[in-house]
Amino acid sequence: MKPFNIIKLSEIPSTQTFLLQEDERKVFDEYTVVYTNNQTHGRGQEKHIWESEKEKNVLFSLLLKPTFLDPSNQFLITQMISLAIVDTLQSYGLEDVKIKWPNDIYVKYAKICGVLVQNKITGLEFSNSYIGIGINVNQKKFLFAPNPTSMFLETGKETDLDIFLSDVLHNIYKRYLQLKEDELERLQSEYLSLLLFKEERRKYIYKGKEIEAKILGVNRFGHLILESDDTVVIQCELRELQFIL
Ligand code: BTN
Repeated sequence: MKPFNIIKLSEIPSTQTFLLQEDERKVFDEYTVVYTNNQTHGRGQEKHIWESEKEKNVLFSLLLKPTFLDPSNQFLITQMISLAIVDTLQSYGLEDVKIKWPNDIYVKYAKICGVLVQNKITGLEFSNSYIGIGINVNQKKFLFAPNPTSMFLETGKETDLDIFLSDVLHNIYKRYLQLKEDELERLQSEYLSLLLFKEERRKYIYKGKEIEAKILGVNRFGHLILESDDTVVIQCELRELQFIL
């Protein structure tokens, strides 16, 4: 039994802003989902705009209450969500699906899904996780998103948006149960096995300078661990590193 309570809106500036603001007023239950196919001011990471053509894509924000997790383990939410999205895309026949650290979902070298995780810590307790997910499903042309792709562009097939949403939520529920059941090693090792460019020597921009480095993994706080040319190990945060694709 899937416990999601889906609030479907025909048009909204941002499901993420709506969920965050309304939860302040009303206090939603865990598993509340705000869903739309028409988002007019979608928010991406770090003030980016999330591009999405009307009625073409799946856009939603989900409220989880992972109170069983220590706040220092909050990166596990990002990991299990990324895995659930990969599970879904693979179940639709997509190949070469990877996770570009920390939580962009890529097909080969193009981005098919973006995830925005905003966690609320109350005192020393993890209280709420607001998880915004945008998956490019039937969109064929993009105006400004950098290197985007969609399920249609990858498979040549149209996908039913409501069925696809229900499949993503089903997979999120399964992965969330793994987290609740403490299957942490499994989640972490599957996440690592899907990391884009893991163990490959490549060029990156680190703190504004070009470096050559190899991704070794991710620590429990979600920092990316890289080994640079001169065998120096770097632990970096999102803002410090740019991928060169
Ligand atoms: C990213 O920059 O990669 C994150 C994009 C997250 C987009 C989704 S779409 C649904 C939800 N509502 C928003 O305004 N943003 C997230």
